[in-house]
This record gives sequence, structure tokens and C-alpha cells, in this order.
Amino acid sequence: MPVHVVADRVSKLSNLRAALEPQYTVTSELLVGSRNDIEEIDAVVVTADLRVVDNIAALKETFAKLTHARKRIFLIDQKARLYIAQAYALGATHVLANPVTRARLLAELADGDHPVTGPTGALHGSGEAAAAGATAIASMFSAVLAGKPIDVGGARSAGSKIADSIAEHGLTSWLETVRRHHEGTYQHCLLVTGITADFGLSLGLAKPDIERLYTAAMFHDIGKAKIPLAVLDKNGRLDPQERALIETHPVAGYEVLKGIAGISPEILDAVRHHHEYLDGSGYPDALCDASISDIVRILTISDIFAALIEHRTYKPTMPRGQAYEIIRSMDGKLERPLVAAFKDVALNR
Ligand SMILES: [Fe+2]
Ligand SMILES: [Fe+2]
Repeated sequence: MPVHVVADRVSKLSNLRAALEPQYTVTSELLVGSRNDIEEIDAVVVTADLRVVDNIAALKETFAKLTHARKRIFLIDQKARLYIAQAYALGATHVLANPVTRARLLAELADGDHPVTGPTGALHGSGEAAAAGATAIASMFSAVLAGKPIDVGGARSAGSKIADSIAEHGLTSWLETVRRHHEGTYQHCLLVTGITADFGLSLGLAKPDIERLYTAAMFHDIGKAKIPLAVLDKNGRLDPQERALIETHPVAGYEVLKGIAGISPEILDAVRHHHEYLDGSGYPDALCDASISDIVRILTISDIFAALIEHRTYKPTMPRGQAYEIIRSMDGKLERPLVAAFKDVALNR
């Protein structure tokens, strides 16, 4: 497979070439002085500072020539988390946060499953809905970090694309696409959105109710934008202080969203209360029974399931059946009839 490397600096270009050349036929270009003679490229690896406006303009030009590249991997600096949305907007199919090891990059390139692309290189099917969802979630996180307005309509319409994609291609295809091509909190939010939409469909809910569910899911962890990545994406156990920091996210999300036009009271309630349990052992408000709404009950089950089955680079993915057994064992915390109804979503759909 020929791989094309695009970088904004000579040093980055030569490092990447050195990493890839033993395995692949590599062509490359610097963003300044773009080439016009590139053909038949399967994959592009981009390493460029997306905070530089000139780089964005140059990348747009480059991608206009590389429409046949089915895999477009962006290597993003940890500090440039705000710019993940920019990478997806430029057409990234995979975004990896530095430091990316050579082994990781090679594994990503060797992975035979490309996102589904059409003749123009555009994503379609689950891939397109996942990219739209990731863009909306990344934009939302960026807006929170930068103190800018959140695009509520954009999040809702991405959620609707996800629900449509699941109705058409099924939940299994969604879970596989998202786990293969997205990482960390974005992966989690995409999984939860798809699972709630499918749960709503399987329960036979009316369209407006399914819409409420996937919208709440798109926003549910927005408070995590305020938590440092070192804690959020930590491999392994959190210490008590880190756990306490993570547990601030429902209230942080509520504070970010309250007062924003287009955010309904039930979405605010879902964002604040998706970690509450029926027996009062959840947080932040230790709600019990009747004070936990139906939307929240559905969202909570979907959220736990998504967290259990998500793909992490450092551990094997938990099978869906095993994750369902864990949810079934959380007696007293989750609504029993809903957990029973979730079985079909968890195992079969
Ligand atoms: Fe959460
Ligand atoms: Fe969550």
C-alpha cells in the first residue's frame, strides 16, 4: 500500500518517512510547495500544526488532490486538543494524539478495514455518520474550552444522522465503525449516542422521544471538556483525587449548558444526573427512585454499557455479553424491566 506523508516541517517529514519506509512505499510533501504528481495513494498521514491558518488552507488544497486516499490519519499534538474538530472537518478518518508510537501508526495503516468510502473518497454509511458525530462532539468540546458558543443545532443534527445510520445499518456496524476509528471521550460519546438511539428504537419509542434520547447522549459528558486529558485518558486505575475530579463532570456540564437556547430542561437533567442510581448511591445529588426520569434511566444503562465495551489501546475490548452480565448484576441501581429490555440491544442488534 503506498502511503503519502504531509507535514508542515522538514524534520517532521523525515521522522515520519523513517518510521514508515521499511514497510511502505512512501511519497511525501511539505505543505509549502505542494506537489501535483501524486497518484494512486491509499493512505495519507498528516502531521501539521492545525493552529496555523496557512496550514489549514494548504491542507484543503492538498486534500482536493487526494480524494482517492481512503485512509486519512492526522497526528495531533496533545496541546492542540481544540483542533481535533478541525482535523475531522478537513476529512480525517482517524485522529491520533501524540505521542504516537511507530507501532501504533503501523497498526493503524495495516488495519485492513477502511472506513466505507465512495468513488470520490467521501465517507458514507456508518463512517459518514461517525465522522459527522465526531466533528460535532469535538467542536462542542473546543467551544467549551475556548469559552465560545456551543453549536446546539449541529450536535442535534449529527445525533439525527447517527440515529438514521443505526436504523439503516444496525447497532453492530455502528459499534465496530466507532471503536475502530475514534478514540477516548469522542469514541465514548459516539457509542452512547448510538446505543441510546438503538435502545429507543427497540423500545418502540416515538420519534420525538428518540430525538430527546440521542440529543441528551450527545451532550451527556460535555463537562469532561474541563478535565485534563492526563486524567481523562489515563491508562489504569484512578487515585481518589483523580476520581473526585472526574466526578465533577456532570455538574460542570450542567453549568456549561444552563441558560443556552435550545437546551431543554430534560437535557439539562440528563447531563446532571446520568450517574445517579435508583438506590441513591450515585452522584452528584444522590437522587433516588422517582426523582430519576425515564430518559436518565435509559441514558445511564447505555452509558455504562458503552464504557464497558469501548476500545482502549491498552486492553482487550470486553465482549457485549460480558458487559450485559455486569449491568444485570447491578441490582437495585438500574430499573429492572429496562435492563431486561436492554438485553436485545446488548446482545442481538
Ligand atoms: Fe458521564
Ligand atoms: Fe458517559
